[in-house]
Formats: sequence, C-alpha cells, structure tokens
Amino acid sequence: MTRVYLSPPDVGNEERQALLDAFDSNWIAPLGPEVDAFEDEFAIRLGVDHAVALSSGTAALHLALVLLGIGPGDDVLVPTFTFVATASTIKYVGASPVLVDSDASTWEMDPNLVEDDLRRRARLGKLPSAVITVDLYGQCADYDPILTVCSELDVPVLEDAAEALGATYHGRSAGCFGEAGVFSFNGNKILTTSGGGMLVTGSAEIAARARHLATQARQPVAHYEHEEIGFNYRLSNLLAALGRAQLRGLDARIERRKKVNKRYLEALSSLPGIEFMPLADYGEPNYWLTCLTVDPEKFGCDREAIRLALEKEDIEARPTWKPLHMQPVFAGEQVIGGSVSESVFERGLCLPSGSNLSDDDVDRIVTVITSSGTAR
Ligand SMILES: Cc1ncc(COP(=O)(O)O)c(C=O)c1O
Repeated sequence: MTRVYLSPPDVGNEERQALLDAFDSNWIAPLGPEVDAFEDEFAIRLGVDHAVALSSGTAALHLALVLLGIGPGDDVLVPTFTFVATASTIKYVGASPVLVDSDASTWEMDPNLVEDDLRRRARLGKLPSAVITVDLYGQCADYDPILTVCSELDVPVLEDAAEALGATYHGRSAGCFGEAGVFSFNGNKILTTSGGGMLVTGSAEIAARARHLATQARQPVAHYEHEEIGFNYRLSNLLAALGRAQLRGLDARIERRKKVNKRYLEALSSLPGIEFMPLADYGEPNYWLTCLTVDPEKFGCDREAIRLALEKEDIEARPTWKPLHMQPVFAGEQVIGGSVSESVFERGLCLPSGSNLSDDDVDRIVTVITSSGTAR
C-alpha cells in the first residue's frame, strides 16, 4: 500500500499538458504570458482588482510588509497559532511580532484580544504598524470586529490567506479583507505550483509597487538602473501555467476536501474526547486540513499515540501548529494570552485531507483512530 500524505499535490493530465505547452512556447523565464493570464484569472476568481504572482507565500508576506512601510521599531500584531512564515517575515523587515492567542470558539486570532490591545495602545499613543490576520487551516478569521477597530484606529491589515484559497467570509473571498492578501502555492496547498505565491490587493499603487520591487526594482530603461533595493520574487512562467490549470479545478478540489471532512466528522465526532476544529457560521472554509483535538482522559490515549499508530500504517498526520510564543526563535517577543493555542497544540492533530484521498483511505484512517481509543 502506498503512503498516505497529509495534503499531497493533486495534479493530472491537464496540469501536465499545460506545463508542456508552456515549455514548448519557450517562455522558460520568470514572467511571460502564463503569469499575466494566471494573475488575471486569479483576480477574477477572487473578485479583487489586482493579483501579483510571486515565488512563494513567504515572499508575498515579506513584500507586503515592505510595501506597508513596516520596519525597525514597529510592532505588528499576528496570531501565535500559525506557520512560522507569518511572523518570521516581520523579523525580515526588522519589526517585532506581537503574538496574539486564538479564540477557543474558532481557533482563529481572538478579535477581543486584538481590540483590547489596540485600544490600550491607542491610549498610550503606541499603535502597532499593522495587524496580520491568518485564515487558519482554510477558515477565515473573524473579520468584522477586527476590521472595525483597525479602521477606526487607522491600523492597516494584512491578510495571510496562504491556506485559504476559495474560502469565504460572509460571501466575500478570503484574501480580500486587508490592504493586501497573500496566498501560498506550496506543494501541500489546495492549489499548488510546486512553489509559488500571490499577493492580491484592491490598490493599483500597491500592485504596481509589488511588481516593481519583485523584479529587482529595475527602472524601465534599456540599461540596468536601480534607485532602491528590490527582490527576485516573481513566479516563473512554467509554474504559472501549472497554476492556471490547478485554478480551473479549484471548486472540485474544495468539494472533495469538504466530503473528506464530512466523512471524518460522521465517523469520529461522537467518540468520547474527540472534538473537531470548530467551523464558524460566518463563512465557508475551503477544508484545506481537517483537524481535531483528543482529550486523553476521555478517549483513552493522547494525540501522539494516534499519530504514531497512523504512522505505523504509513499514514502521515501532524500535530497542529506549535504556537509561535512557544518556539525558541520567538522567545522574548510580546505575547497576548496564549492558553487557548497551547491547549490546542497539546491535543491537536491534522488528519490527511487531500482532494485525492479515497473514501477507502478515510475509512482506514478512521479505523486506526477508533482502535487506538479503544485499545486502552
Ligand atoms: C499560514 C501560512 N503562511 C505562510 C506560508 C508560507 O507560504 P510558502 O510556503 O509558499 O512560502 C504558509 C505555508 O507554507 C502558511 O501556511
């Protein structure tokens, strides 16, 4: 039996053909017609004015922070319960992350903690330079309260929607809630170009600056002329062709992940001590990863025992994010709250959730989990 991965690429003949066509066109370079078309189609899919294709989600986050003018001495509020890149890019620009705990009812950044901290800082005259939200595991953060206080206090919002392509919040697409939104096309994402990313924005000025800085800030003259430091952050034309083919299949992939999620829920949610990541009623996730928590007292074993039992069957499952305030690299950074994300980390497990996972695979995973609990 072949190994079952957490979220492997789901590519087929359409992607293969798109890649070969781009190869045969000899546009084997960063930029080219496939990049332009990918950006246009992506922007239309999201209902946003501008999309800029980049080499990774991390590059997109870094560039967005540069574009917002964040730098040394600045504080940036960011969820503690996320992948490291959301906060490491704050360090790239010399600013300081302020790590905010999750809301237990969604696992997303707690909007009350954000509001309390912003109001406290407003009183002290020390507002942060930005708030980065994360749409965790494919579900949107709770934008209404966060955007209300940020707009009142004039604090820009940057949306890390790396995991949430295709998700919505009150009918609006993930990625469209801040000054800029960022996506990842890493190999484990719902749409992959093997590596890649996208910055989306409603601002023509931000999009133009992003394109300029991502191409080494080269001036539009015949020789190489540079007035500021830029980056080599654009997406390759070949990978954009792959992205276009993947985008055409996005809805089917979301649909399949939703069915996988439903099958897990039906089979496991009534077991004692098992609770799934709460789905908020304010939107529709893309079901990127199905995650649950295990109460060892009630279930009979802890999440690590389940993970190891799955691993023994050649099935990959991963603990949920280790909160950034618990990471040695962020020791000493400011933290707001922390107990909710710590408790989810201690008990949380992400299950295989790929759109190419078969019902038989899900049933096999369910059997391993169920029998770990009863084998006390
Ligand atoms: C929340 C989050 N932000 C940022 C990234 C970074 O994206 P990339 O791997 O494309 O650099 C990822 C995933 O990889 C992510 O999950």
